[in-house]
Amino acid sequence: MKNFTSVDDVQDLEGLLSLAKIIKAAPFSHPEKGRNKTIGLLFFNPSLRTRLSTQKAALNLGMNAIVMNLNTEGWSLEFEDGAVMDGTSAEHVKEAAQVVSQYCDIIAIRSFPTLTDKEKDEEEYVISAFLKYASVPVISLEGSTEHPLQAVADALTIEEYKKTDRPKVVLTWAPHPKALPHAVPNSFVKMMKKVNVDFVIAHPEGYSLNQKFIAGVTVTHNQDEAFANADFIYAKNWSSYDDYGKILSTDPSWTVTPEKMALTNDAKFMHCLPVRRNMIVTDAVLDSEASIVIPQANNRTFAAQAILTKILDNEQ
Ligand code: CP
Repeated sequence: MKNFTSVDDVQDLEGLLSLAKIIKAAPFSHPEKGRNKTIGLLFFNPSLRTRLSTQKAALNLGMNAIVMNLNTEGWSLEFEDGAVMDGTSAEHVKEAAQVVSQYCDIIAIRSFPTLTDKEKDEEEYVISAFLKYASVPVISLEGSTEHPLQAVADALTIEEYKKTDRPKVVLTWAPHPKALPHAVPNSFVKMMKKVNVDFVIAHPEGYSLNQKFIAGVTVTHNQDEAFANADFIYAKNWSSYDDYGKILSTDPSWTVTPEKMALTNDAKFMHCLPVRRNMIVTDAVLDSEASIVIPQANNRTFAAQAILTKILDNEQ
């Protein structure tokens, strides 16, 4: 694997999930693999899980990890080719990516969307620029449109907790007070299309995800109907895609409650975290046996370690 910026970069998903399981059983088995290698973790946005789990994964492999909050600690970067840099940007990504490539053997980047400029967001202008100008592998720590490391951890979690060969998995929109990106649901949809599940998306009118991602997936505006016989409920908020970046609803009837969970086949509750309690999901569900959000977050380390292993080995 050269780069990992999309779920599509995984050629052998079964092999990757098997590797993640092996790593989880013995995470310190290959402390030499990353010896004398450095990963640079560049954050344009906040993080708890992605930052710590990817750093831990790198350390487990014997790598050095350098973390930098570029938005607060670095020069403001310019991304436009040919720009006359007479504004606030002090450095062009063309130099920055080449310079960081001399310090790091892998560059990993978190860059959220603007949620105001759809075209720019869909170009993944930050990650695309690093892919263009860096001379080392690039990993997405969540871009404008995808969060592939999260999706690998999600697939691993479903694999571990499923009780049937083909579980029913529901991705449900849930209310949130702020406009959130589409990266987590997009990558989750991509991932669910690759694994053996009966997959349904539930959201209110106006919250369709990009057709590019959801083509061929069953979509309903009836959350109760979607929850019937579900084995996994994956809750997530996202802002409108069609009315780009807007909040069209905060309807509390979409909050995941014990009554909603009672419609399911004793389903497990999943969320990528961070989660707004009693907006997305009630305390009663999040604190119940049904919730697997903590082991799901734990799997972020093993997903990241599997991806780093593939990149270090230059294997698909
Ligand atoms: N799920 C996730 O990416 O969490 P962080 O934003 O805390 O990294």
